[in-house]
Amino acid sequence: MERNPVGKLLLFGATGDLARRMLLPSLYGLHADGLLPDGLTITGSARGDLDDDGFRAEAKKALDEFLPADRKDEAALSGFLKRLQFQPVDLSDENTFAPLAEKIGDVSGGLAIFLSTAPSLFEPAVKGLEKVGLAGPTVRIGLEKPLGYDLASSREINDTVAAVFPEERIFRIDHYLGKETVQNILALRFGNSFFEPVWNARGIDNVQITVSETVGLEDRAGYYDGAGALRDMVTNHMLQLVALIAMEPPARFTPTDVRDEKAKVFRSLRQIPPEEVPHCTVTGQYVGGAVKGEIVKGYDEELGRDSTTETFVAIKAHVDNWRWQGVPFYLRTGKRMPVRRSEIAIQFKPVPHSMFAGRGGLLQPNTLVIRLQPEEYIELLVMAKEPGLDRDGVRLREVPLKLSLDAEFAGTRRRIAYERLLLDLIEGDQTLFVRRDEVEAQWIWTDAIRAGWAANGMKPKHYPAGTWGPSAAIALTERDGVTWQDD
Ligand code: BG6
Repeated sequence: MERNPVGKLLLFGATGDLARRMLLPSLYGLHADGLLPDGLTITGSARGDLDDDGFRAEAKKALDEFLPADRKDEAALSGFLKRLQFQPVDLSDENTFAPLAEKIGDVSGGLAIFLSTAPSLFEPAVKGLEKVGLAGPTVRIGLEKPLGYDLASSREINDTVAAVFPEERIFRIDHYLGKETVQNILALRFGNSFFEPVWNARGIDNVQITVSETVGLEDRAGYYDGAGALRDMVTNHMLQLVALIAMEPPARFTPTDVRDEKAKVFRSLRQIPPEEVPHCTVTGQYVGGAVKGEIVKGYDEELGRDSTTETFVAIKAHVDNWRWQGVPFYLRTGKRMPVRRSEIAIQFKPVPHSMFAGRGGLLQPNTLVIRLQPEEYIELLVMAKEPGLDRDGVRLREVPLKLSLDAEFAGTRRRIAYERLLLDLIEGDQTLFVRRDEVEAQWIWTDAIRAGWAANGMKPKHYPAGTWGPSAAIALTERDGVTWQDD
């Protein structure tokens, strides 16, 4: 992959939560390891009237708070802060952009912009940038979600951005793709020969994807209550996981090949008709309960008013193509669950005939568990014979063949997902960014689910904080004779 690094970076929303927790620590991490291009300047911008020194002080505070102790290095820190400057910007005010352009100066050596803003501000932002010459051929733009709240609004945003930036210079961020373990799905599937022959409807009975979080609303009421679990987590992160599991092998590891294959998966998702939505989806909202031994409030109470926004969703999905015919993909995600866990469980078909049955031996179908976080491991559950003389019958037990990536790569530093994505944005590699056709196909599928909820007047069922969601989520799989992999 040819690298084409820019000389300047512009961060909108530079004093916000994402910048403080993720972007600044990530950029610092890249700087400390000598991965940022020499001389790359980072211009922060946001509303307010900070100056360069004020921004450096804010950035230092954020780094003090969010960098792990073993990453703090005074010399690296001072070198990093020297790269920073600040320009106040109000995206809704077109007069803002001329001073910004002046501050950034010459962009002939390349400029990468990171834009994370409310959907309503994409248009003024992009138009403002164009007007002052910050959208030319040397400029690329990274877009952070939410990129709309349905297909129509996402198209509008995509059209607005496309009027100024061609697709090759648009980098849509889904931070799950920056996670090492998510990329490892590609290595597991396409770097090993033994999974492929069974990686289809003949070998696999069902796929389960769980992304459970223990956090609740987290001061994000303004955004989250208008979004809900489906749009916040499924439309993007979870569907990307589905695509990586379900896609055909790309011929090359290039932006076009990888994204072509993912897009085909999104287009193959079976749209759930309104009358089937109540059978194929479950929504929930947490009420007061206890998470990790602590009493926590219910969603409405945190929000300060009654709401019908779902904080949990479970879906039975299908990928309608040859490979996956008849294989359900069960997805579930929620806030205030008992544990924080992102995991994919691939359940294989049982053996066609058990020779052990007549001698009392019970078999379980094999399961491959890919744990993405908090731990990183791959575990294949296989049947083994318990030691013994078998005089009362054969005893078989499921045992794990476990590859701990944490242990195997213990000496290698784990990077924040945004380190990878910011570096790829700076260097111009689109492989791990989401293409327009992917996003739109994702919305088409989720919009149909929301339409089904509306048509059936479905409201989220309550579940106590600290549990695995409403009991209907258990029924969703048990009806099919499948049990969620919860251990
Ligand atoms: C974000 C969602 O995209 O992903 C949040 O908006 C969610 O609601 C977060 O908490 C989860 O990310 P991670 O990396 O902690 O799994």
